[in-house]
Amino acid sequence: MLSRRNILLGAGATALCAGALPSLRASASTVVDIRSRETAYDFGNGLTQGLVSTRDGAPPPVLRLKQHELTTFRFLNGVDDYSTMHWHGIRLPNAMDGVPYLTQFPQMRGESYDYSFASPDAGTFWYHPHCVTMRQMAHGLTGILIVEEDEDPGFDLDLPLNLKDFRLGDDAQLLDYFTPRGAARGGTLGNTLTTNWQVAPAYNVPAGGLVRLRFAATDTTRIYRLAFPAQAQGQIIAWDGHPVNDPIPWPSTEAPLLLGPGQRVDVAVRVPDTEGEVLDFNGIRGGNLAPLASIRATGITRGRALAELRPLAPNPVAEPDLERAELIELKFGWSPDGMIPNYGLCGIQQYTFWSINRAPWPGDAATGTGPVANLKLGQSYVMRLQNESPNSHPIHLHCMTFKPLRSTLGPVAQNWTDTYLLRKSEVAEIAFVADNPGDWAFHCHVIEHQKTGLAGFIRVS
Ligand code: C2O
Ligand code: CU
Ligand code: CU
Repeated sequence: MLSRRNILLGAGATALCAGALPSLRASASTVVDIRSRETAYDFGNGLTQGLVSTRDGAPPPVLRLKQHELTTFRFLNGVDDYSTMHWHGIRLPNAMDGVPYLTQFPQMRGESYDYSFASPDAGTFWYHPHCVTMRQMAHGLTGILIVEEDEDPGFDLDLPLNLKDFRLGDDAQLLDYFTPRGAARGGTLGNTLTTNWQVAPAYNVPAGGLVRLRFAATDTTRIYRLAFPAQAQGQIIAWDGHPVNDPIPWPSTEAPLLLGPGQRVDVAVRVPDTEGEVLDFNGIRGGNLAPLASIRATGITRGRALAELRPLAPNPVAEPDLERAELIELKFGWSPDGMIPNYGLCGIQQYTFWSINRAPWPGDAATGTGPVANLKLGQSYVMRLQNESPNSHPIHLHCMTFKPLRSTLGPVAQNWTDTYLLRKSEVAEIAFVADNPGDWAFHCHVIEHQKTGLAGFIRVS
């Protein structure tokens, strides 16, 4: 079983994770250049052409910046598609949000845009294009964005894990990422599940050490069902970027943790003491366990204890005033096919299947499109999200971090988030303070749903 996997050898803390994604570290005084490009890569079955990354023959790097530090990412579009770059979950000025027509004009090939922001929040976020999103994301352009805590949380190793499917044919070439059948239902699933573009990678980590695993579901479609090793000493420490204050149980085969497109979960694990011992972090797929990533104890034990970890400092998210909050009702459901949305330079979609409050999104470039809701700056809101469909929708709101309050499906963990996985026929309430002015995109993160109507924007003024 293990020999099938790519065990990476090394010694010493940095070499231990050879094969892990490299990081580009930003600092206040430098501009970090990122350029998209077409590339090829071997997932294990031959060279796949037509992928999109920001490195040649390799997945997009992890981008790292320091909490509170003003950072500039200069994104140069190096592919023929128009593009923009979006910083999922980061609370930033509207002009830095990377949403075509709403916050900036789409970038043509060769054009760059400076995205400058200082994140008030530390945690695990991610980046992806927001124009011709469907193709560029399906073909690989999704990366993890880490905002490092002011205070070092004290791990021996930090291991970002970018979960992403690819849809490949027998010849290892890319298959259609969009199918009308998929778009009208749960979405079109990939057949090659990868972590950091590798199938079930195994990472050498320090024996007896404390590691931080950062899972990010960046796939366009798949809802991961995570099951963690029962024998492991570990704890979920952050959810969708923010430290958990409402504990999330350690997921098991019987009770997996659902991680929808766009969502992240940070896990603290105490590595076993014995060299060679392996912990599998699995996904459940069609009733079977499949490892998404494994860690293997290496070297002489460092003898650390989970109890040595201080809890992560909470991020400064404003608490909504539930007494004075205004209620907004939103229904997500079907829409009659027929309308062809106008995405301008950001891709053509021939179909409309979904709607918010019965109105399908007319397209990024449609003129005269109003907001889904008008919010008053500084006011607290409760949104009642109602799923009228049998499919799950990871509902994502840009920039305004919110808290789930309750759900018809049972108790919910009230942790800050930017994406709520709304399940079949569920009605859930979320709350937040409209504390950032601008037009903020609001959509389902199953990209086929987003591009066939389940999208809109929220205006805060
Ligand atoms: Cu992950 Cu509109 O974004
Ligand atoms: Cu986003
Ligand atoms: Cu959806």
